[in-house]
Amino acid sequence: MSQFAIKPLTDEPQIRSALGDLLIETVASGGSVSFMHPLSPEDADAFWQDSLGAAARGERVVLGAFDGENLIGTVTLLLKLPPNQPHRAEIAKMMTRLSHRNRGVATALLRAAEQLAIAHGRTLLVLDTAVDDGAAPLYEKQGFQLSGIIPEYALKPHGGLTGTLIYWKRIGAAAA
Ligand SMILES: CC(C)(COP(=O)(O)OP(=O)(O)OC[C@H]1O[C@@H](n2cnc3c(N)ncnc32)[C@H](O)[C@@H]1OP(=O)(O)O)[C@@H](O)C(=O)NCCC(=O)NCCS
Repeated sequence: MSQFAIKPLTDEPQIRSALGDLLIETVASGGSVSFMHPLSPEDADAFWQDSLGAAARGERVVLGAFDGENLIGTVTLLLKLPPNQPHRAEIAKMMTRLSHRNRGVATALLRAAEQLAIAHGRTLLVLDTAVDDGAAPLYEKQGFQLSGIIPEYALKPHGGLTGTLIYWKRIGAAAA
């Protein structure tokens, strides 16, 4: 049982600000989450404004993990996929504050995202994570299967190319 409260996030000033701080810290510490270091507060805020807008339209769910009032982790479940993939969802933007790492926050977020995907009738979850400084052990512990590696897929936040690992997991009815 997680000691952290997990809930879907909506576009409120203090939430956007906390998400921005988390994204900037994650990128600065080398996390591969699509951005380069240094990430400006304006760019971080613009990303979350777009993302929470998509969440308000039901295209995704942005989950937050809270320690008391403080947002200490997030993950996004992408639900808006092409018409021929209605059974699928994607995991993205998994991040835990440096102060709260290795305490099960990401594991709890991943489990919650998986339950949400099942509740939306999805039977296949996919994600990718960087070869360098990624989260492969976290996903493998939760039963994700490695499809393969694409070399030199993206730049790391501080420069230099890294590969990406592609993972999938059957969930819900498909996992039985
Ligand atoms: C990847 C990341 C999200 C993991 O977050 P986290 O909250 O520290 O993850 P967890 O605590 O759930 O699990 C991490 C480790 O702690 C262990 N752990 C899990 N629950 C635990 C608990 N209650 N107490 C202590 N350790 C625990 C896990 O077994 C795991 O161990 P491992 O390193 O041997 O795999 C975090 O490191 C991060 O934000 N990285 C930068 C961004 C990034 O790379 N994101 C992934 C993009 S795909």
